[in-house]
Amino acid sequence: MRVLLVIGAGPGQGAVPSLIAALRRREWAVLPILSTPAAASCADLWSSLCAAPVGFLDAPPAADVALLAPCAVPLPPAVAALVSHRRAAGVPVVSVPTASAPARPGPRPAGAAAWEVVPAALPLLGGGVAPLWLAGPEAVAEAVAAAVTRPDLAGKGILVTAGPTVEDIDPVRFLSNRSSGLMGLSLALSAWRRGAAVTLVHGPLQVAVPALPGLEAVPVRSAAQMHQAVLERIAAQAAAILCAAVADFAPRQVAAQKIKKTAAGVAEDPTLPLRRTPDILAALGALPRRPFLVGFAAETDHVEAHALDKLRRKGCDLLCANDVTEPGSGFAVATNRITILARDGSITPLPLLSKSAAADCILDRVAAALAP
Ligand code: PMT
Repeated sequence: MRVLLVIGAGPGQGAVPSLIAALRRREWAVLPILSTPAAASCADLWSSLCAAPVGFLDAPPAADVALLAPCAVPLPPAVAALVSHRRAAGVPVVSVPTASAPARPGPRPAGAAAWEVVPAALPLLGGGVAPLWLAGPEAVAEAVAAAVTRPDLAGKGILVTAGPTVEDIDPVRFLSNRSSGLMGLSLALSAWRRGAAVTLVHGPLQVAVPALPGLEAVPVRSAAQMHQAVLERIAAQAAAILCAAVADFAPRQVAAQKIKKTAAGVAEDPTLPLRRTPDILAALGALPRRPFLVGFAAETDHVEAHALDKLRRKGCDLLCANDVTEPGSGFAVATNRITILARDGSITPLPLLSKSAAADCILDRVAAALAP
C-alpha cells in the first residue's frame, strides 16, 4: 500500500519518526510531502526515514491513502486543496487525532480519551514544553488500514479471546502456556478495521493492545475469570472467536503462602492435585441463542481429525486448526498455517501467512456468514 504522508513544521514533528516507523513495519510505501516551506528544513530527514524522495505539493505522487501528520494541522490552503482533491478522487484522508493538554503530567485530554494518546512533549527553543497529546503510532497505523478496508462488519459486535490463561499455584508459581496473544490480537484488529465493535478478552499478553475507539480490552488472568468475562458480554455479540489458549487444568487449591519444599507434608516427589477448568467454547456452543461461533484447535497430530471432533463436540460454526509443532506456525511466532473447517463439512487449508493475513481470511468467512 502507498501512504502519502503530509508533514508540517509544528510541534508534533517529534512524533513523526515513530509514526513513519509504524507505517513501514507494515511494509507500506510511505511517500512524504511537506505542507509548508518551513518544513523543508527537515526534508532530508523525512526522505531517509521514509526511504523515498520528498514529493511536491502541486504534483503529489499517487497513493491509496493520505495521512496528515499531527504537525500538518491547521492545514495551509495548498494542503487543504490537496485534501479535498484527494477526497473527491475517492482517496481516503486520515488525520492523526490530537488534543491540546497541559504539557506536564495531568489528566488525559477528554477529546482523545478513546485513542491511545501519548504525550508528544517537545522541548521548545525558548524553554518550556509543547503542549500536545497525540494518538500513538500503532493506533494511527490501524486507523490508516481501516480507512482502506471495506466496513463489512460495521456496527456488529465481535468478541475475541486471546493469549494464555494463568492458573496460580501459590503467590510465586503458576501453570500457563506459550501463547503470546498475537493471533487473537490480529483477529481483534482485523474485525476493528472492518467497523466491528470489538471486545477483546485476554490473558497476560506478550503483545501490546493499541487503544482504539470501538475496541474494548478486558484483561483477565485465569480460565474462570475469562469464562465469567465472556459470559457477561456474550449477549451483545454477533460473533465470538475463541482463540485463547485456555488452561484445561488448574490447581485444586491456591496456596496463600509460597509452598516450601521443606514444609511438613510436602513429599520428596510432590504431586499437584488439579481440577478441570470451565470449557468456555463448549459453554457458548450450548447456549440456546448463541452468536456465530468460531473455535480454534491447537493440535500436534492428526490435525484435521481432532479438529473435526472439536468442531462437533463444542458446537462451533467454524473451527481454525493449527499444527503447533510445525515451524513458523502456532505459538509465539509471527506466522500461522490454519485450516478452516466448517459445520457444513467444507475444509479450507490456508497457506502459511502472517497472523494478520490469516486473521483477515477468518474474518472474511465471519463477515460472509453475518451478511444480511
Ligand atoms: O497466541 P499466539 O502465540 O499467537 O498463538 C496462537 C495460538 C496457537 C494460541 C492459536 O492459534 C490457537 O491455536 N489457539 C487455541 C489454543 C487452544 O487452547 O486450543 P485447544 O485445542 O486446547 O482448545 C480448543 C478450543 O477451545 C479453543 O478455541 C480454545 O479457546 C477453547 N477452550 C479450550 C479450553 C477451555 N477450557 N475453554 C475454551 O474455550
